[in-house]
Amino acid sequence: MKPYNYYDELDDSELAEAPVIKGLRPQRFPPRHPKKLAAPLRQFVQTQDDSLASFRFTYKAARFEEGWLLDSLGGFYEHKWISDVLSRVKGGKEASVYLCRAGTEVPADLVAAKVYRPRSLRNLKNDHAYREGRENLDAEGKVVIDDGMLQSMAKRTEYGKNLLHQSWIAYEFTCMQALLAAGADVPTPYEMAGNAILMSYIGDLDGCAPTLSEISFERSEARGLFERVIHNIDLLLAHERIHGDLSAYNILFWEGDITLIDFPQVISPRINRNAYGIFLRDVTRVCEYFNKQGLSTNPRKLAADLWTKHGHRLEPEVDVRLLNDEDPQDRALWQKQARRK
Ligand SMILES: Nc1ncnc2c1ncn2[C@@H]1O[C@H](COP(=O)(O)OP(=O)(O)OP(=O)(O)O)[C@@H](O)[C@H]1O
Ligand SMILES: [Mg+2]
Repeated sequence: MKPYNYYDELDDSELAEAPVIKGLRPQRFPPRHPKKLAAPLRQFVQTQDDSLASFRFTYKAARFEEGWLLDSLGGFYEHKWISDVLSRVKGGKEASVYLCRAGTEVPADLVAAKVYRPRSLRNLKNDHAYREGRENLDAEGKVVIDDGMLQSMAKRTEYGKNLLHQSWIAYEFTCMQALLAAGADVPTPYEMAGNAILMSYIGDLDGCAPTLSEISFERSEARGLFERVIHNIDLLLAHERIHGDLSAYNILFWEGDITLIDFPQVISPRINRNAYGIFLRDVTRVCEYFNKQGLSTNPRKLAADLWTKHGHRLEPEVDVRLLNDEDPQDRALWQKQARRK
């Protein structure tokens, strides 16, 4: 029998608004009806019924969202990586991020759980541009070498699509691990399981840190922040990585510091032929934000200098196939390029 699938039902309109947590009063929900459990959860129930059965959370989830969270975060709860889900921080196109109370096995008080929607990444626009030259990773972050798995992915069977989806998530997690070790300003990745990643939470109980896009700065403050962002871009490049979707929307600001987030589409500057175009777009979007904060920047020169500093060859322009015609920033970039011709 095909297991009941919450994801088919889950819709943004079903997601409850994230409540502001004032005093933390744990809230009890009645036990769920066992019929609602999807396949992976049933396995947990068979083996470790006691612990998972006690998983209740403070966050008032909507009907389908509750089942989705129990499936996605049940393992985190069982392993004592989280003890409670407190609120939904943000519901994005690809994933929703939840503020959780950490469990005893994680050295933090609050943690963020990024829970992916299963089909989201498969629909990622122009995903081939990012996947080029990139090996696929399994659920543990190891390179897939199994012939059957590779064939399923190449043929895009349902199983293969699931493996590809898993690979994006594993990329985000392993990339964050590598970047943290390199000294970059990224959240600490704690655990990855199924369709979720657990990482350090930037913010407090009243809300997550704002993204740069939500705030503006005096020019004097903007200068230091810009330099810090460029330092991170440089550091990523030194460790053979390009963010691939960097902009003021994927940089958090908290207590004077920046944190780069959102890494599933990260690419290698050496292996991917589209690398310079993607890199130039990242640098350009960052510069555009800081120009609005009163700085004068030269993204083309900056990108070229960083690129060649790390021994890479220059290519002229952002490949138009990488641009999203529904994104105003991308459209502006395209128009600028067309004018230069
Ligand atoms: N570690 C974190 N701590 C606090 N807030 C976070 C954290 N990670 C993500 N967020 C919040 O969740 C939002 C979505 O996260 P992220 O960008 O990783 O996911 P996404 O699905 O790619 O979202 P989008 O499509 O909006 O880019 C962020 O803009 C930020 O507000
Ligand atoms: Mg994002």
